[in-house]
Amino acid sequence: MKSSRVPAELPAFYANALPGLESIAADEIQRDLGGEIKRTERGLIVFKLEHLDESILNLRTTEDVFILAWGTDALTHRAIDLKSITHWSRKPDWKRLLSLHHSVQPKTKGKPSYRFVCQMQGTHVYQRKQALKAMAEGIRETDAIPASWKMVEENGWLEIWLSIHKERAVCGIRLSDRTMRHRTYKTEHMPASLRPTVAAAMVRLAGAAPGMTVLDPMCGAGTILAEQIELSKLRRAGRIETWGGDLDMNMLRAAVTNLKKLGPCLLARWDATKLPFGASSVERIICNPPFGKQISDPESIKPLYRYFIKECNRVLKPGGRVVLLVSDQPALREAIEHTSWSATRQYSVEILGQGATISVWQKPA
Ligand SMILES: C[S@@+](CC[C@H](N)C(=O)[O-])C[C@H]1O[C@@H](n2cnc3c(N)ncnc32)[C@H](O)[C@@H]1O
Repeated sequence: MKSSRVPAELPAFYANALPGLESIAADEIQRDLGGEIKRTERGLIVFKLEHLDESILNLRTTEDVFILAWGTDALTHRAIDLKSITHWSRKPDWKRLLSLHHSVQPKTKGKPSYRFVCQMQGTHVYQRKQALKAMAEGIRETDAIPASWKMVEENGWLEIWLSIHKERAVCGIRLSDRTMRHRTYKTEHMPASLRPTVAAAMVRLAGAAPGMTVLDPMCGAGTILAEQIELSKLRRAGRIETWGGDLDMNMLRAAVTNLKKLGPCLLARWDATKLPFGASSVERIICNPPFGKQISDPESIKPLYRYFIKECNRVLKPGGRVVLLVSDQPALREAIEHTSWSATRQYSVEILGQGATISVWQKPA
């Protein structure tokens, strides 16, 4: 009789997303990676996969991605948690989890290095370092990490993270590295430049299709345009035209540097309140205009938004969509009142320590 081997079910995975963007990240995990979402919490998405390969590292709206070793909602904030953390950290089949990590990570040169990390939010009677020690103790008891491996303080080849948020804790092996959240294209960092994962979320919300033109009228260092180009490449669909510009020449130079290796993009110096295009020339506009506190006179944000939105409305085709990130949503709404756009979705996020809103607008066809 033939024996058939059923592949062992994979453990769960989890990803961190910027608070406010969890549903967009969950959508990406589901649609682009084929994951099954098990749970979505503040800043956290737990999911299952049928197959694990490098494509998990292509996620663009997540900050980090991990193999789940254990998780709990039952922390008490008292010292007894430390014993529980050691106990829970002893239980997983670490050898299997490590072999999954090795199947995705490129082989390390020389002696493998490892690092334990603990992040903690909320008030607990114990300190972060004590929680870290409790986790490390449990893992060491399993002998999963060979004694010959080198423990490091930064950038380990293998990283095991414990993240505590109030009563919730998740422990897992990190599959991503810093390039998931920072990207490799972003060599020029300008003040007020957007976090790539936020730009990626805005690009997803815009949902441009091949053959369309996407415009960022105040492109700064070009993060939104870069994310649009990268997403189109990843999807291997037809080409999407990308146009961007800025009033500030230094910003434009940064955009040219950041975008030059990614793909074609039209970049020019312009005033976003007087764009050099005819009426109805673009299908999508994605932009984060200056926040009030970024300009010398915060009161000038209202007229800037008013003239900017008027110009966006002129160049946007009927049926077009606009995705904007601002901190002063009332000022934006006031400016949009003069158009026929309707609001379709809104997400509250925190950018550079202040509350902001991503909103999606539709121009009638
Ligand atoms: C918040 S930043 C955009 C950051 C950009 N998304 C990035 O990731 O780098 C706002 C940008 O708007 C530009 N800006 C302000 N007023 C403008 C105007 N009237 N026309 C064009 N650009 C303008 C600023 O120079 C700045 O680069």
